[in-house]
Amino acid sequence: MASGRKSVPGRERQQRSGWDAWTFAGRTLALGGLMLALTAVAMAEPPPGSSPSLPDNPLKGRLLFESRECNSCHGLVGDKLGIGPNLGERHFSGTFLELGAALWNHVPGMSVTFEVTGLPWPQLTSGEAMELIAFLYFIDYLGRPGVAADGEAVFVSQGCSSCHSIGGGEANIGPDLAELRNFASPLYIAQQIWNHGPSMLEGMRRLDIPPPNFGEGDLADLSAFVRQKAGPGPRERMLLAPGNPNHGNDLFVSKGCSKCHGADGRGGDGGPDLRLVDLRRPAETIASTMWNHALGMRSTMQERGIGWPEFQDSELADLVAFLYFLPFSDSVGDPQRGASVFRERSCKDCHAAGGSSRLEGGVPGPELSGTTATASSASMVAAMWNHAPVMKKAILGEGRPWPELTGQDMRDLRAFLMSQTAAR
Ligand code: HEC
Ligand code: HEC
Ligand code: HEC
Ligand code: HEC
Repeated sequence: MASGRKSVPGRERQQRSGWDAWTFAGRTLALGGLMLALTAVAMAEPPPGSSPSLPDNPLKGRLLFESRECNSCHGLVGDKLGIGPNLGERHFSGTFLELGAALWNHVPGMSVTFEVTGLPWPQLTSGEAMELIAFLYFIDYLGRPGVAADGEAVFVSQGCSSCHSIGGGEANIGPDLAELRNFASPLYIAQQIWNHGPSMLEGMRRLDIPPPNFGEGDLADLSAFVRQKAGPGPRERMLLAPGNPNHGNDLFVSKGCSKCHGADGRGGDGGPDLRLVDLRRPAETIASTMWNHALGMRSTMQERGIGWPEFQDSELADLVAFLYFLPFSDSVGDPQRGASVFRERSCKDCHAAGGSSRLEGGVPGPELSGTTATASSASMVAAMWNHAPVMKKAILGEGRPWPELTGQDMRDLRAFLMSQTAAR
C-alpha cells in the first residue's frame, strides 16, 4: 500500500512553504508566514487560458489585500487598526455573491473613510475581485493551532495508544508515529490515517476498539502531540502546502468521489449532497468529517466494487480545499425576480436594460444589457465596486438611501441582465 510519505517529488519544493507556521504558531503568524507560500506558487502559474473561476492558491488574495491597501484600514487576525472592521475575525461565510453584496452594502461607510484618509478607491479586475473575496472566505480554513496536551487525550481516548507508540513504548501493533515527525501536519496525519484506513479499521474490529471519531480540533491537537513527543526531526520539517481547490475538483472526479456524490458534490448515486453539509470548516475538521464517515463510505464502496481511494503528496489538502469552497459557489438566479430588484433598488432610475429605458431626469448610467460587466459573477462584483464612488455621489447626492442588496438580489440581478443580453 503506497504510504505517500517516501515518494514525494513535489514536497521539497514546498519546503519552508510558510504553511508550517500554521501548524506551529498562531493564526496571526501564519497569515504573515503565508506570504512565503506565495513565492512558491508564483513559479507554478496555471497554463494560460485555463482561467479557473477559483484561484489556485486562495491565499494569493492576501497580496492584493496589501497592494490595494485594504490593510490600511482593515486588520486580519489579532491586529486592531480601528478604522475598518478586522476582516480575519469576521468569519465570512456565504457564497461569492453574498460576500460581494456585503462589500457593496458597505460602500457608503467605507467611502467616508476613504475621503478622510485620502486613499484612492482601488480598482479591481474581475480576477482580483475573485481573489480578494476568496481570500476573505479562506481565512477560517486555517483553523487554530493544536494543543499538545489535548492531543494526548485524543490519542488515548480514541484508542490510538492501544496500537501505536510515539518515540518508543509498549504498543506496537501499528508503526511508531515518531516516524511522522517531519510531516506531522494535521492534514498529513489525516492523509496517512485515511490511506491506512481499511487495514486499521479491520484491526480495530478484531480488537473490539470502536473506530475513532474526531471532533473539531482533534487532528490539530493530535498533530501537536505527535510533534511534541517525536521531538525535532533530523531535517527541516516539510509539510503540506495549502490546498488548490481547482486541483481538488479534478481529484474529486479522478478519485471516484463523484461516482456517489455527483459532479460538484451535488449528490446522486448513493452519497449525500455535500453542498448541504456545512463544510466551510477548518481544513483539519473537513478531513475529520471524511474520516468519521469512512466506515459508512467503505461499505458502500465495497458493495459497489469501488476501490479505496488513496492520496499522495498534497492531494488530500487539495480535495479538502475543494470541499471547503463547495458552499462558495452561487446557484443561478431568477431573471424575473431580478427585474423587480432592478426596478425597486433604484437601478432603473439611472440605467436602461434591454427594452426598459431609464427614468427621465436621473443621472445617466450606462445601458446594462449587453455589457461585459455581468459576464461572470466576479465581473459583476468588480464593475459595481469600481463604479461605486460615482454611483454613491449620484445616489446619495440626491438624498436617496444606498440600495442595499442581498446575495440573492445579486444572483437575480445578474440573471436578469444576462437574459436582457440574450434578448437583444
Ligand atoms: C479607507 C479605509 C478603508 C479601506 C482602504 C478599505 N476599507 Fe473596507 N471598510 C472600511 C470601513 C470603515 C468599513 C465599515 C463600513 C460600514 O460599516 O458600513 C468597511 C467594511 C468592509 C467590509 C464589510 C465588512 C463586514 O463586516 O461586513 C468588507 C468586506 C471590506 N470593507 C473589504 C475591503 C476590501 C477588500 C478593501 C480593499 C480593496 C477595503 N475594504 C478597503 C474602510 C476601508
Ligand atoms: C487496531 C490497532 C490500531 C489502532 C487502534 C490505530 N491504528 Fe493507526 N495503524 C495501525 C496499523 C496496523 C497501521 C499500519 C497499517 C498499514 O500498514 O496499512 C497503522 C497506521 C497508521 C498511520 C500511518 C503511519 C505511517 O507511518 O504512515 C497513522 C498516521 C496512524 N495509524 C494513526 C493512528 C491514529 C491517530 C489512531 C487513533 C485515532 C490510530 N492510528 C489507531 C493500527 C492501529
Ligand atoms: C461508494 C460511494 C461513495 C464514494 C466513492 C465516496 N463517498 Fe463520501 N459518502 C458516501 C456515503 C454513503 C456517505 C454517508 C456515510 C455515512 O454517513 O456514514 C458519505 C459521506 C461523506 C462525507 C460526510 C458527509 C456528512 O454528512 O458529513 C464526506 C465529506 C464525503 N463523503 C466525502 C467524500 C470524498 C471526498 C470522496 C472521495 C475521496 C467520497 N466521499 C467518496 C458515499 C461515497
Ligand atoms: C443614481 C444613478 C445610479 C443608480 C441608482 C445606479 N447606478 Fe449603476 N452606474 C451609474 C453610473 C453613473 C455609472 C457609471 C459609473 C462610472 O463610469 O464610474 C454606473 C455604472 C454601473 C455598472 C458598471 C457598468 C459597466 O459597463 O461597467 C454596473 C454593473 C452598475 N452601475 C450596476 C448598477 C446596479 C445593479 C444598480 C442598482 C442596485 C445601479 N447600478 C444603480 C449610476 C447609477
